[in-house]
Amino acid sequence: MKQVGINKNDIIENIEVEKLVFGGQWFARLKHENPDLDGRVIFITGWAIPWSIVNLRVLKKRSAFFETQIIDIVKKSPIEKIHPNNPYWESWGWKWINIPYEEQLKIKENQIKESMHLIEKLQNDLHFLPIEASPIIDWYRNKVEFSFGKYISHKNNIEQNFNLWFHKQGEFSKIQDYDWAPLIDDIQNQVYMELKKYFKTLWLPVYDQMRNEWFFRHLLIRKTYFTNEMMILLSFNPVYFETNTKLNKEEKMWLIKDFLVNLTIKYPIIKSIYYSHNLNKADTYIWDLELIYWKPTITEKLLDLNFNISPTSFFQTNSSWAEKLYSLILDLAKKENLSKQIILDLYGWTGTIGMIFAKHWAKKVTSVEMVTSASLDWKENAELNALHNIDFVNAKVEDFLDDYIKAWNKADLLIIDPPRAWMHPWALPNILSFGTKQIIYVSCNPATLARDLQFILQNSNYEIEKIKPMDMFPHTHHIETIVSLIKKD
Ligand SMILES: C[S@@+](CC[C@H](N)C(=O)[O-])C[C@H]1O[C@@H](n2cnc3c(N)ncnc32)[C@H](O)[C@@H]1O
Repeated sequence: MKQVGINKNDIIENIEVEKLVFGGQWFARLKHENPDLDGRVIFITGWAIPWSIVNLRVLKKRSAFFETQIIDIVKKSPIEKIHPNNPYWESWGWKWINIPYEEQLKIKENQIKESMHLIEKLQNDLHFLPIEASPIIDWYRNKVEFSFGKYISHKNNIEQNFNLWFHKQGEFSKIQDYDWAPLIDDIQNQVYMELKKYFKTLWLPVYDQMRNEWFFRHLLIRKTYFTNEMMILLSFNPVYFETNTKLNKEEKMWLIKDFLVNLTIKYPIIKSIYYSHNLNKADTYIWDLELIYWKPTITEKLLDLNFNISPTSFFQTNSSWAEKLYSLILDLAKKENLSKQIILDLYGWTGTIGMIFAKHWAKKVTSVEMVTSASLDWKENAELNALHNIDFVNAKVEDFLDDYIKAWNKADLLIIDPPRAWMHPWALPNILSFGTKQIIYVSCNPATLARDLQFILQNSNYEIEKIKPMDMFPHTHHIETIVSLIKKD
């Protein structure tokens, strides 16, 4: 073979996928006769399973690696196991469903260990706890948003005019259809199917996003895990009947409402039904809400706390796991003098972690989150649980810390749960300035976690006590890690 180079758009054949790296990308190494290229790192996007053999297209050529995309699978991985009910698995939010769950856990655990290589140079006795599996694996999602739409493909001779499922990935105008959705439970699936079957019989058209016309738009189903309550939201275009005056609007709307309300007899877990009179041209389902059946919120219970969930509420999508995560954080927290402690819950979102500490021990908790709409949920839920020792601050953590420190305020325990992208570089030095005995860092991104831990170890006398990986989203590449840091005396 000639000693040739590899360029953008070239096809590289027969590459064995080795392992997962950050951001859901896969890692492999090139085998090539040219010694300059042999062993070169390849990052792979697209669906893969470790140890499968794939053909790749080069998207970008960098000095030390290639960025590539899978174009086909030459040989299946020996660990692949076809999930019995597995629609469109290669392109959806359950891409790993054909990887046996024990293997998923091993891949994730290895990823965390590898991301800590740099840290091992700074602290050689890292204590990794075993990865915590999700209590539920196949049907953990408490919320699902379906879209109505068509799937017309003249090329493939497909004409489906009434679909209710998810968008085809990469082709926004097409909605695929399947009589089952992964990651939600049987009862959510049954309700989804009953509604789809009935809506089809009404002869009302599905909405066309490009033309901004026609009727049915979205179906949202939320279901609590611990209390078994369901909410349904139907989003539709309210002006459809104005342009289609031959149709009897009152009759059609009455039929829809009657069917929805009567469904609660068959499924008494349905406690709340909303319409969204949706005039928004963007593809969102919340707009001009109308409660058409019973309760405005459903209530989830985690660690003895109640959380009211409205259609707009933020809430962790895997409730069973959320409870596990929060109880592990509670377990890791040092209990000495906790009842006297002032705790900062940074990047608090709906303040759930803060509320759990406020309920169980802390003297006072301050939860900080920049998204204003989340604060409405905070306040309501704190009142619901009669918690008077928690404050919610709607601000950026970096700004909040500056002001808090300038005012000589103190803290005894920090809980940090930053977004996937990063923690603002201003925030880190401020976090260290409190000198708290313990910091608990919760992370959904091993790369930024490693970078921040490196900063902390290099710039303070904290050391890592424990690292606990957790699997919140089975069948996806996402992984969560809790790290406890203790200040050396
Ligand atoms: C991983 S989530 C936190 C989850 C939360 N601790 C819980 O247990 O539900 C990260 C949160 O940080 C918020 N956020 C992102 N950047 C921020 C900033 N600079 N200051 C404050 N909050 C921020 C996001 O809006 C998001 O709610």
